[in-house]
Amino acid sequence: MPAIKFYDHQPIPMEMHKVKIVQQLTLPPADRRLAKMKEAGFNTFQLHNGDIFMDMLTDSGVNAMSDEMLAGMMKPDDAYAGSESFFRMRDKLEEIFGMKYCLPAHQGRACENILAERFVRPGKCVIMNYHFTTAKAHITRLGGHVEELVKFEGLEPVSDLPFKGDIDLDRLEECIQKEGADNVAFMRLESGTNLIGGQPVSVQNFKDACAIARKHGILSVLDASLLQDNLYFIKTRDEERKDMSVRDITMEIADQFDMIYFSGRKFGFARGGAIMVRDEELFHSMEDLVPMFEGFLTYGGMSVREMEAMTVGFDESMEMDVISQGPEFIKYCVDRLDEYGVPVITPGGGLGAHLDASRFVSHIPQEQYPAGALTCAMYLCGGIRGMERGTLSEEREADGSERLASMELVRLALPRRVFTLSQVEYVIDRVKWVYDHRDLIGGLRFVHEPATLRFFTGRLEPVSDWPEKLTAAFKAEFGEDQ
Ligand code: F0G
Repeated sequence: MPAIKFYDHQPIPMEMHKVKIVQQLTLPPADRRLAKMKEAGFNTFQLHNGDIFMDMLTDSGVNAMSDEMLAGMMKPDDAYAGSESFFRMRDKLEEIFGMKYCLPAHQGRACENILAERFVRPGKCVIMNYHFTTAKAHITRLGGHVEELVKFEGLEPVSDLPFKGDIDLDRLEECIQKEGADNVAFMRLESGTNLIGGQPVSVQNFKDACAIARKHGILSVLDASLLQDNLYFIKTRDEERKDMSVRDITMEIADQFDMIYFSGRKFGFARGGAIMVRDEELFHSMEDLVPMFEGFLTYGGMSVREMEAMTVGFDESMEMDVISQGPEFIKYCVDRLDEYGVPVITPGGGLGAHLDASRFVSHIPQEQYPAGALTCAMYLCGGIRGMERGTLSEEREADGSERLASMELVRLALPRRVFTLSQVEYVIDRVKWVYDHRDLIGGLRFVHEPATLRFFTGRLEPVSDWPEKLTAAFKAEFGEDQ
């Protein structure tokens, strides 16, 4: 269906669905939010959802399901071994990706664990356009290291580059020479590159990078968790492919790779994951890891209901009317903030709107986690829960020093088909207020710092009484009940 045109209204993104089931929200007032933020150790992962108005932490496992997906959940085939639900899911994935073999897993990071267990050894290198937290943690846990070779422009906050997730092909060649092809466990390209702002990779870049890997005998792996956003951007930004169907573009991309894995909490709009494998021998070489870590080979830790829902969700991911909603709402949000002068990552990507904390709160030193502090400020001033994607989400160097992130981002995720445009307007309004009062925001420091994935469970405190001052200014503006 073509995008909706207007007669007497500025173009706005449209929801191509209607709401059938709702979840009531409440806005906890400012004082309660301050108390809850303290209880949560200034870590938005530790908040309870009941204390949140707009949950924009992630799109993972919280996308809205369609009536067809729910209907699918009514016909699961319960079986430990040989469930028909699994075969339906596998066949759908084969139809979409053209790969025959499927290793199911309970979510994306479980796929990453299996890949790392199979291919990573101490000293081995995994080449990526950019890392994802859990993908990297599994590799470093096993003594491997990650080389990130996204084009330098991909890390520039402000850009009009259409495919900021592209890997730098010259540096890819150089890296293979330096490491030696035998020492490269695999090359992992991430579609809709999460940590640089949900930025897409071009089909040409997928093709060129995989050709280089193939030439050197290196396995290529696609992380397709955010593929649906990437497909939308290819369809709308790649002149050569604007008349191709989403399915054909998907197959053209899939054809380049030896393996494709995904988080079904994103791709498929339900909850689960899988690794698709082209080669039978390669598949058998990983098979034993599934019953060991996940569950039997025909469920891999997933519920049969979720497999049925995902099977429908994969088809929906091939529909422009479905996959356009997220990126178009994000563009609306990013453009409006940009016009106001709020530092955001441009162009808007998939997954969510990304505030650039390094410019937003440039007075906070990177060692005091500016993106973490700004994430807390968004909760204090609006009940909006975002996610820190900066230094806090990194792990310390082996010598204990901070590894300063190349980008300090606050991600305000827009789970697919969940929020309305008026809710997005509310978020825009509160971000503008916080921006105009940014000088009130101060830094954070750890009081409990776990050694791995510290952003999940770490506890922090403010370096001064800035949360109290920010809350007082907010109440003076909006009143006690907001
Ligand atoms: N790959 C990418 C690109 C992801 O964004 C994620 C998860 C994973 C792998 C891991 O998948 O959560 O199912 O284990 N991203 C979530 C997020 C957590 O909020 O960005 P998972």
